[in-house]
Amino acid sequence: MYALVTGASSGIGLEIAKELDKKGYNIILAARNIKKLEEIKKELSNKAIVIQIDLSETNAALELYDKVKELEIEIVVNNAGYGIFGEFTKTHLEEEINMLKLNIISLHILTKLFAKKFTENNKGYILNVSSVAGLMPAGPLLSSYYASKAYVRSLSLALNEELISKGANVYVSVLCPGPVNTEFNNRAGVKFAVNGISPKYTAQYAIKKMFDKKAVIIPSFNMRVMALCSRFIPQKAVIKICHGFQKKKEK
Ligand SMILES: NC(=O)c1ccc[n+]([C@@H]2O[C@H](COP(=O)([O-])OP(=O)(O)OC[C@H]3O[C@@H](n4cnc5c(N)ncnc54)[C@H](OP(=O)(O)O)[C@@H]3O)[C@@H](O)[C@H]2O)c1
Repeated sequence: MYALVTGASSGIGLEIAKELDKKGYNIILAARNIKKLEEIKKELSNKAIVIQIDLSETNAALELYDKVKELEIEIVVNNAGYGIFGEFTKTHLEEEINMLKLNIISLHILTKLFAKKFTENNKGYILNVSSVAGLMPAGPLLSSYYASKAYVRSLSLALNEELISKGANVYVSVLCPGPVNTEFNNRAGVKFAVNGISPKYTAQYAIKKMFDKKAVIIPSFNMRVMALCSRFIPQKAVIKICHGFQKKKEK
């Protein structure tokens, strides 16, 4: 049985790939950095397939699906993603569009195609990586990133409900971590305002909860409290608080 992990070359995706390998799955590792993927392949105990792909390119997700669709895949982890920091009027439009293609469009395509396939087979798990950002009303200074992660959360929860109501043996979970110590900050050009948790713990927690068929997975206590509290505070105030947090992230 196979698990497909996008963004498997570092951070949360890498640790999820290792965790699923430990559980006996063959892993399809997808990302751009082929050198890193080949090294990771050597570390895994089960069979691993390496696919070099830039999922911010148009049609890349369709190509990825075509490459793997004949394999017996039971788990898809849509993890590849990144953020862009800065005032909306100053951030680079083309970079932002690439981010949206990766964070939203590719994830959407893979979720759709695998949800269809899994429904036909009546078996499968989809784990979509959003963020605690996706649980907030908006995130000034990381505006497009927050919006993209809200899309991931909303899509995943809607699809999960459709599948549950049909009695399908197919489950969609959405992972919503707060800060995790990965390459994320470097790529987004920020520093964390609060301490991050380890990608290994995030992956172990996420996989356990995915198999428990949990819809929303938040892997740290303080982020679970924050997400809960934000529901009882007026949106306008939550957005102001988020803005304050984001300002502290500026390097
Ligand atoms: N770290 C955090 O604090 C945090 C918090 C909440 C949510 N998240 C989410 O967690 C996910 C994983 O991020 P991370 O924190 O583990 O960061 P990371 O260490 O930077 O890992 C990102 C992964 O995505 C891959 N990737 C980036 N652009 C890609 C592209 N165009 N095509 C294919 N793969 C691409 C990267 O591989 P290549 O560079 O080899 O392509 C890498 O494997 C993201 O969706 C992120 O939004 C992170």
